[in-house]
Amino acid sequence: MPARSAAAARAPAPRTLPVRLRRLRRSRALRDWVAETDVGLRRLVYPIFVRPGSGSPEPVPSMPGVARHPVRALATLAPRLEAEGIRSVLLFGVGRTKDDEGSDAWAPDGVVPEAIRAIRRAAPELVIVTDVCLCAYTRHGHCGVLHDGAVENDATVDRLGRVAVAHAAAGADVVAPSAMMDGQVAGLRDALDGAGFASTAVLAYSTKHASAFYGPFREAEGSAPATGDRRGYQMDVRNAREAIREMALDAAEGADLLMVKPAGTSLDLLARAREIFPQPLVAYQVSGEYAMLKAAAAQGVVEERAAVEETLAAIRRAGADLIVTYFARDVARWRREVA
Ligand code: PBG
Repeated sequence: MPARSAAAARAPAPRTLPVRLRRLRRSRALRDWVAETDVGLRRLVYPIFVRPGSGSPEPVPSMPGVARHPVRALATLAPRLEAEGIRSVLLFGVGRTKDDEGSDAWAPDGVVPEAIRAIRRAAPELVIVTDVCLCAYTRHGHCGVLHDGAVENDATVDRLGRVAVAHAAAGADVVAPSAMMDGQVAGLRDALDGAGFASTAVLAYSTKHASAFYGPFREAEGSAPATGDRRGYQMDVRNAREAIREMALDAAEGADLLMVKPAGTSLDLLARAREIFPQPLVAYQVSGEYAMLKAAAAQGVVEERAAVEETLAAIRRAGADLIVTYFARDVARWRREVA
């Protein structure tokens, strides 16, 4: 026994702590060994903006690293994504023409059907999900058909059904209605089944908040509403019980997967939904969340990789099976660097 100083001799004996959580935090190997959550590439869905015309990808100024790709470019982009380890993509079309109803959204030769066919040919294993909405195709920029200044629900559901059928006919695996119309999942399911596409899955944007974080996306898509806002159909961020009702309705209408968005402001909803619903849960880390992190990283305020990995781990920990994120290719690159 080493000699103890007089002061130490007077002090009470140190307590023995039975539990020391730091034991398993001592090294990276130990931390990785007991980590509860993984953000594997198979969990990530990469959004792609597809535009009409040809030429090179057009950068989206507010979203560094994101571009609007002409359909022609997808034959090279899709196999590249696959080689990088990306397993699924979510397609957004920029309309060739806009009218009051958004009819270009359901044209069989529209940008999204053409993109689906191009990706299918070039990268047959990629899971293809498509956004089903009208806002990039309507002159007024709202997600549906207007009547007296308000979006008419049932007429819009009818149009969304046509869009879903056009996407399914081109070969989409999953269609994702994002217009936040009541009954849109049942409407799509009926339209798909009626057209012979019973095998096409529906990913419901169930809890889509009227959010300030969609701004960069609307710049990319040219889909900002010309007048008013989307609060008449998208969800109020203050409501959680209503979010559960949205998800329960979509599940009852036959949704194959349920989505919440924006992800970062919905972690509580993911956790609750995880307890209630057996369906795969998807979280969308939206354009504003991406742009904020990129901007903060560019200013040296946060370290990009660490900050992004932290948000993705938190979204997975909250209960998401899949995460739609514009960072998917960055994550793929970081995973390669580790190997
Ligand atoms: C279409 C749609 C939007 C987003 C996904 N689908 C825009 C909106 O509702 O205004 C937002 C995605 C993002 O911000 O990354 N309705």
